[in-house]
Amino acid sequence: MSTIANHEKAADEFILVLDFGGQYNQLIARRVREAHVYCEVHPSTLSLAQIKEMAPQGIILTGGPNSVYKPDSATCSPELFRLGIPVLGICYGSQLMAHLLDGRVETAPTSEYGKTEVSIDARDSLLFQGVDARTICWMSHTDYIAAAPAGFSVTAHTPVCPVAAMENADAKLYATQFHPEVLHTAQGKTMLRNFVYNVCGCKGTWKMGDFVERTVKALREKIGTGKALCALSGGVDSSVAAVLLSKAIGKQLTCVFVDHGLLRKDEGDQVAAVFGPEGPYALNFVRVNAQDRFYEKLKGVTEPERKRKIIGEEFIRVFEAEAQKIGAVDYLVQGTIYPDVIESGLGNAATIKSHHNVGGLPDYVDFKEIVEPLRLLFKDEVREVGRELGLPDYLVNRQPFPGPGLGIRIIGEVTAEKVHIVQEADAIYREEVAKAGVAPQLGQYFAALTNMRSVGVMGDGRTYDYAIALRAVLTSDFMTAESAQLPWDVLQRTTSRIVNEVKGVNRVLYDCTGKPPATIEFE
Ligand code: XMP
Repeated sequence: MSTIANHEKAADEFILVLDFGGQYNQLIARRVREAHVYCEVHPSTLSLAQIKEMAPQGIILTGGPNSVYKPDSATCSPELFRLGIPVLGICYGSQLMAHLLDGRVETAPTSEYGKTEVSIDARDSLLFQGVDARTICWMSHTDYIAAAPAGFSVTAHTPVCPVAAMENADAKLYATQFHPEVLHTAQGKTMLRNFVYNVCGCKGTWKMGDFVERTVKALREKIGTGKALCALSGGVDSSVAAVLLSKAIGKQLTCVFVDHGLLRKDEGDQVAAVFGPEGPYALNFVRVNAQDRFYEKLKGVTEPERKRKIIGEEFIRVFEAEAQKIGAVDYLVQGTIYPDVIESGLGNAATIKSHHNVGGLPDYVDFKEIVEPLRLLFKDEVREVGRELGLPDYLVNRQPFPGPGLGIRIIGEVTAEKVHIVQEADAIYREEVAKAGVAPQLGQYFAALTNMRSVGVMGDGRTYDYAIALRAVLTSDFMTAESAQLPWDVLQRTTSRIVNEVKGVNRVLYDCTGKPPATIEFE
């Protein structure tokens, strides 16, 4: 699997994140990149020799699900702390640092979970420059550091955590029990920036344009004169991947757009208008109308993961058929981005759902290789890449639409009738949100069709129809989200239009749940 992740050519400055299995690991990398320093996440099993060869300016040890005392817990060599390279340990990473350097790690008498007020004891610490004396941090731990190792001083604490942060400034070793990378840590960005700039001495010269340049070059080298096929959905991710690839290999790329009959209203025609022969990109563009094929496969299927796998697999089969028509296609390009990867349970994190681009892939794929140039990036970073590539704003700012499409916005069995209902309801909702001018503040908003039918009254008659659920969330990274407080009049207008204009619907509900505990999509 190609991730085009090559720190050697990436930048002059490089921060290495060692992955001990925490959910937020790529967020750390992304925060560092936000500070204009190139950063990548690598497995904690890298050898010392490999690490030395990478010559990072600093190393960050991530959180992880285990206790340092479990025999099979991920670990690293204590020599890592003697390389002279600055190290920041976060959560599990901080406990590991303490444990390997002969401090004391214990099960905390009270676990801390959530936003916690932390007292900064060493405000002159390089890590805490510009940080308030009391600051809200995100804690999530059952073990804690009971005693810092020799040579370390305690730099922060909470009422239940005696060592919320510690450091040995001479050895350039720093540790926080809390997670500076998550937005709930109010001054976390400042702390990471401080580590990268004050402790590691980085200047911050990296920019997203470098990523584009490097990726285009790496793709060109890898694919050479070969042919590639891109799964283009018209969404932000695949559009950015397609334009990136077309920049690298021009007409050796063919973009296949599969209309699986699970797209939003009129979307197929819109995508064809942008990327087809009449559009501005001059791509080799093939539209495949495969609705019947997908509906047939989904007949009687209600289980969400099963639906995802079926849609994912059918996609690949359609691509393979197209590839065979073109002949000698070695590479399949996908617009997979990092949240797709992490939530599909790759690496050490738990599976939330099989994202179509990743976990939904069948075991056997008839291409030499899958190329996923955006695999390490978050949504807003992908948008930035899109802007770098000169994609128009309306495309770059499009709200995300999942690969399995309306298939996962229809609870239960997917039928052509249900697709029609949800398409119409969603189009009305989007129109009303756009008219009200609230769209730019929303991360994602859409209508879903619940599997619930209930009694209503219309005219003088009884109805027994479906309920549509409206969802709108605020999020920037799509890993967590809050339900948006949409103006009531927008919801009212949308509701009355949906029940009046969409046959088969007599009730409209608004989803007030955040993520967690819900996910953004319904399945
Ligand atoms: P969830 O529902 O997991 O969604 O909170 C997070 C973000 O990912 C999108 N999503 C997908 N995107 N293939 C995709 O390309 C998928 O299978 C998939 N499932 C969810 C979702 O729309 C949201 O933006």
